[in-house]
Amino acid sequence: MIAAASAETVSRAAELLRAGGLVAFPTETVYGLGADATSDVAVARIFEVKNRPAFNPLIVHVTDTAAAGRIVDLNQTALLLAYAFWPGPLSLVLPRTEGCPVSLLASAGLDTIAIRVPAQPTARAILAAAGVPVAAPSANASGKISPTSAEHVAESLGDAVSLIVNDGPCPIGIESTVVDCSAEMPVVLRPGGITLEQIEAVIGPITVAAHHPDAPASPGMLESHYAPTAIMRLNATSVTVDEALLSFGEHKLNGFRDEQNLSRAGDLREAAANLFAMMRALDRTGGAIAVLPIPDEGLGRAINDRLRRAAAPRSLPEQRLTPLPGYRTCFNPDGDNQDDQK
Ligand code: TXA
Ligand code: MG
Repeated sequence: MIAAASAETVSRAAELLRAGGLVAFPTETVYGLGADATSDVAVARIFEVKNRPAFNPLIVHVTDTAAAGRIVDLNQTALLLAYAFWPGPLSLVLPRTEGCPVSLLASAGLDTIAIRVPAQPTARAILAAAGVPVAAPSANASGKISPTSAEHVAESLGDAVSLIVNDGPCPIGIESTVVDCSAEMPVVLRPGGITLEQIEAVIGPITVAAHHPDAPASPGMLESHYAPTAIMRLNATSVTVDEALLSFGEHKLNGFRDEQNLSRAGDLREAAANLFAMMRALDRTGGAIAVLPIPDEGLGRAINDRLRRAAAPRSLPEQRLTPLPGYRTCFNPDGDNQDDQK
């Protein structure tokens, strides 16, 4: 059920989390599907409910840098970034500490963990009240459009989640930037709410992971993702009567069957906040979607990344919402990788 954010809802959410339940909650980026990150069983339920491939690790959410330091070894680069951008839309991939309490399933068996300190007040209140690190991927079925409202979560996951905490639309609207700080040279694995320019202003030039759909640098960076049902055509310079238009800024096109404008003023921040909700809205109208070009700078990089994935061919296992014959569920307690994408 959906419950409005309040002190009472926060305590209920925290209680549910401590009892091993799943709670969907708002963050400044997208709504997350949270579970106690130290509980194998609770984390397994996330994979089950999302139908998420078990090789795709989750982000662990904590209240502050000190709490992060108990889970991962924070190095100099990580501390600089944490100091500059936490709380906020940045996830850092770092080695587990010795005696790290986080379930190995949460990090898909890797010896690193992606960790983040969210800024959204309700998220922070839930984390503080729960008193445990919370593993939370975006609260949508795996491979589908991320939710930026409580209603989106209900549409996508419905009855599978006992509590959806509603605190309105997510102000940033696009997921956190994932930076791998586990090796000597940090690498941006996923563009997101903190821009490349912002990161480089703090730690200098940084590499952005090359796009390798066959061997994704970040296991979640599968080619098709954020996928609407409709076919999407990017960088459109014209539009047909059969197409809906996802536009950006002022334009002179007409004759399309429907339109959502990410930002008439050409503001990338506004466009990021609108992206997923507008993709959903156009998808509901049925038929193809043409997308106007978005400048590839600042938050535009993250927007273009999500659009590229939304437009990608959809043949990967992540798109299968019901297991195919001979395809076991994502969580396989025996640990053999039946559902590996190869
Ligand atoms: O904004 C966000 O980050 C949202 C909110 C809910 O916090 N969460 C989110 O989680 O987007 P998710 O699970 O949808 O995406 C996590 C990304 C994936 O691309 C995953 O592969 C990557 O982080 N990731 C997680 N742990 C990793 C690790 N140890 N090494 C490399 N990549 C990792
Ligand atoms: Mg996601």
